[in-house]
Amino acid sequence: MRKNIIAGNWKMNMDYTTGIGLFSEIVNMVNDEVMGDQQVIVCPPYIHLNGMAQLAKSQNNISVGAQNCHQADKGAYTGEISAEMIQSVGVKYVILGHSERRQYFNESNTLLAEKVNSALKNNLKPIFCIGETLDQRNSNSHFEIIKNQLQEALYHLLETEFQNIILAYEPVWAIGTGLTATPDQAQEVHAFIRKEIEEKFGQSAAENVSILYGGSCNPTNASELFAKADIDGGLIGGASLKSRDFLDIIKAFNRG
Ligand code: PGA
Repeated sequence: MRKNIIAGNWKMNMDYTTGIGLFSEIVNMVNDEVMGDQQVIVCPPYIHLNGMAQLAKSQNNISVGAQNCHQADKGAYTGEISAEMIQSVGVKYVILGHSERRQYFNESNTLLAEKVNSALKNNLKPIFCIGETLDQRNSNSHFEIIKNQLQEALYHLLETEFQNIILAYEPVWAIGTGLTATPDQAQEVHAFIRKEIEEKFGQSAAENVSILYGGSCNPTNASELFAKADIDGGLIGGASLKSRDFLDIIKAFNRG
């Protein structure tokens, strides 16, 4: 059965000391307060990965993820960091395809397919983000856009490779805007994604893939979203920077 997952995306926030402090606090709070079997993944900027992976080492339900990786293992790519390097410090996950990377760094589905390959080759599980812009939703092309993102970035995988993918549906219009998709809107898209996965990779892959919702998820709206049949958790931006809010979102998961 698929896992319930809450992932925090810190984006470009937190200096080193503050970030390590926040993560230590989250680890303690999860140990004290979380009774279910939710998996917690925290994705900080690169500089925190090593220190946080050390802190997460002895934790069953808490892991660390990167927010990006380069598609090559090594080479003359000044300023870049590879999946091979990320896994070498004990990190298990990497966010790929976030809409901010697509928008500000021109990451195409084709490039993302290469990054997915590199992550999988280096034993990192991708948290792969898909989702439509407001214009695309208003013109009712969101299902087509999402299908296209899946096809171009993930459909070259074998079913055994796809088993290592976590999906995150993040409507671009809901990210950092305070505009959350309604639970029904999100469920409709999540069910569509699962159906697409079933058609491509089969029933077992579809039943086992965790599909997270992301976009202005907070302690107030989380439980209603997570109660939906095809919503298996959340990818949390702003609210993951505050330990109390993040914990309350983790605890909003009652299917545990
Ligand atoms: P948000 O960000 O929760 O701040 O809307 C979500 C994300 O970008 O993953």
